[in-house]
Amino acid sequence: MDRGMVIFVGALLTFSSSWLGLVLYPYWQLQHEQPYKKDEGDIAYPQPLEGKALAGKKVYQQNGCLYCHSQQVRSEKFGNWWEDGVEKTGSDIRRSYGLRRTVSRDYIYDNPTMLGTMRTGPDLANIGVRNPSEAWHHTHMLNPRSANEWSIMPSFAFLYTREKIVGSRSDKALSLGREWTVKPGYRWRPSSKEWDEILARRGETIVTQLLGGQPTDFDTKTPEGKTRLLELWLTSPEEEYQVLPTGEADALVAYLLALRKAEVPLPEAKE
Ligand code: HEC
Repeated sequence: MDRGMVIFVGALLTFSSSWLGLVLYPYWQLQHEQPYKKDEGDIAYPQPLEGKALAGKKVYQQNGCLYCHSQQVRSEKFGNWWEDGVEKTGSDIRRSYGLRRTVSRDYIYDNPTMLGTMRTGPDLANIGVRNPSEAWHHTHMLNPRSANEWSIMPSFAFLYTREKIVGSRSDKALSLGREWTVKPGYRWRPSSKEWDEILARRGETIVTQLLGGQPTDFDTKTPEGKTRLLELWLTSPEEEYQVLPTGEADALVAYLLALRKAEVPLPEAKE
């Protein structure tokens, strides 16, 4: 019985001291952190997420982006590489992951914070500054291989729809060649037999469309000519179909563009 009491008190002390040290004390220390303004007239940093970007944060959470992407910039003291036999540090800043390291104030409006632990892909704390192109993010999300052939990021094609064009092509349609849009999520290419069939059916239209009646340096009847024509055709957009972002894809990209941490200097983030 005596020993039971010792075990109970010991366990209680162990758990309560870690709770005090790791939860309560940091909470007490950081609870009053305020956005930063260098001068009275400045816009406060950070700004809370709003509207589409806020909705996009949910999509980011739901799709597990966190498992491969961190949102924390390491200080100049960390992240080493070797150059001419000399060890250097600060690889995150060098890769433009942010202007400076991130500190707790960067996250005051993030609930939950999405610091992440893995960097299978690059850090995204500052992606809105590093790559502000909405179109690039959509084509990359539809199929990361369309942007970087070597990418191992999964395709998020289920956040897009492929529709028959009624009237004219929508402004929001992704501008990608048919190799990426015939089967969203995959790279499509007809077999040589299928290509022959397509050519037999619509060869002349395809040649006129792609080459516009211009004289070419290749003969589209020879095997090499056919292959070159196929390459051109695959990178041209589909005539009848378009790929559009769903509301979720739109929100996700708005969220990525709003990720602008470590953009403003903070007095507590010295290195
Ligand atoms: C299995 C791991 C994995 C998952 C899950 C993942 N990514 Fe990636 N991501 C990568 C890799 C690897 C790269 C680098 C290659 C590339 O650019 O495609 C990358 C690149 C990126 C880039 C370009 C970054 C830059 O600096 O150019 C963005 C933006 C991005 N991912 C967003 C997302 C979003 C949003 C999600 C969730 C919907 C997600 N990723 C899910 C692995 C992943």
